[in-house]
Amino acid sequence: MKQLAQAIAVLFMVVLPSVSLAQDQPENLKVFPSDMSRDAVLAEMRHFTLAMNVRCTHCHARKADGRGTDFVSDANPNKDKARAMMRMVDTINKELLASLPDRDDPPVVVTCKTCHRGTVKPRVLGQELLLAAHKGGGAAAVDKFNQLQRDFSEVGAYDFREAETNSVAEKLVDEGRFEDALIIYTMNLERFPESGDIWFGIGEAQEGLEDMPAAIEAYEKAVALDPRGPAAKRLEELKSN
Ligand code: HEC
Ligand code: HEC
Repeated sequence: MKQLAQAIAVLFMVVLPSVSLAQDQPENLKVFPSDMSRDAVLAEMRHFTLAMNVRCTHCHARKADGRGTDFVSDANPNKDKARAMMRMVDTINKELLASLPDRDDPPVVVTCKTCHRGTVKPRVLGQELLLAAHKGGGAAAVDKFNQLQRDFSEVGAYDFREAETNSVAEKLVDEGRFEDALIIYTMNLERFPESGDIWFGIGEAQEGLEDMPAAIEAYEKAVALDPRGPAAKRLEELKSN
C-alpha cells in the first residue's frame, strides 16, 4: 500500500509536470525556435498586436466550435503572412543590415513596428490619400485624411505635415485630375493658410482646368506669401503671353 502511494506520488511528480509542460509548449512553431517557451512566444505576440494595432484573431483562426481561438491552427492566412514577415525581418537584420559598416553599438534593428507603426497595411499618408483619390476622387481623399488624423493621432503612424499632402495633389495634377487636386489643396489650405506652396499648386491645377484668371489669382497669392517661390516666374510667363 505504502509502495503504491509512493509510486503514485512519483507518478504525479514526474508525469504531471511534463503533461502540463507539454500543454504549455507551443506545438506549431515554424519560424521561432521550436523549443521556444509559451511565455516567450506570447511576449512576441504582444509586440505583433501592438505593432499592427490588431487583435490575436487577425492572425489566429477561431476554434471549429466557434468558442475561443485555436492558436495552433494555420487556417487563418494572415498567420503565414506573418511568418513571411518574420523571415523578412530576420533577413534584414541578420544579413542585409549586418553587412553595413560602422553601425551603432547596439545596432539599430528593424522591428514589425518600424514599418507597421500601428497599421495593418503600412502605407505612408501620401500612399493612403492617393489610393483613396484614385478610388473615390478628391473628396474621398479628404475623408481618408480626416479619418486617419482622428484614428491615428496618438500612434504617430502618418506624416500630417503640409508637404506630404501637397505631394498627393501634385501627383493628381500630373495625372490630369485637376478637380481632385483642387479639393485636396483646398483642404490643406485650411490647415496651412499661409502657404505659398499650396497657392502655387492651386495655380497649376487651375491652369490645368484652363481657368486662367483663377490661375493668375492663385499665383499672385503665392507670390504675396512667398516672393521667392516658383510662382513669380510662372506669373511673368503667363502675363507675357
Ligand atoms: C500578426 C499576426 C499574429 C498576431 C496578431 C498574433 N499572432 Fe500568435 N502567432 C503568429 C504566428 C505567425 C505564429 C507562429 C510562429 C512560428 O511559426 O514560429 C504564432 C504563434 C502563436 C502561439 C503558439 C501556438 C502553437 O502552439 O504553435 C500562440 C500561443 C500565440 N501565437 C498566441 C497569440 C496571442 C495570445 C495573440 C494575441 C495577443 C497572438 N498570438 C497574436 C502570428 C500572430
Ligand atoms: C520592411 C517593412 C515591414 C516590416 C519590418 C514588417 N512588415 Fe508586415 N507588411 C509590410 C508590408 C509592405 C505589408 C503589405 C504587404 C501587401 O499586402 O502586399 C505587410 C503586411 C503584413 C501582414 C498582412 C496584413 C494583412 O492583413 O493583409 C501581416 C500579418 C504582417 N505584415 C505582419 C508583420 C509582422 C508580424 C512583422 C514583424 C515580424 C512585420 N509585418 C514586419 C511591411 C513590413
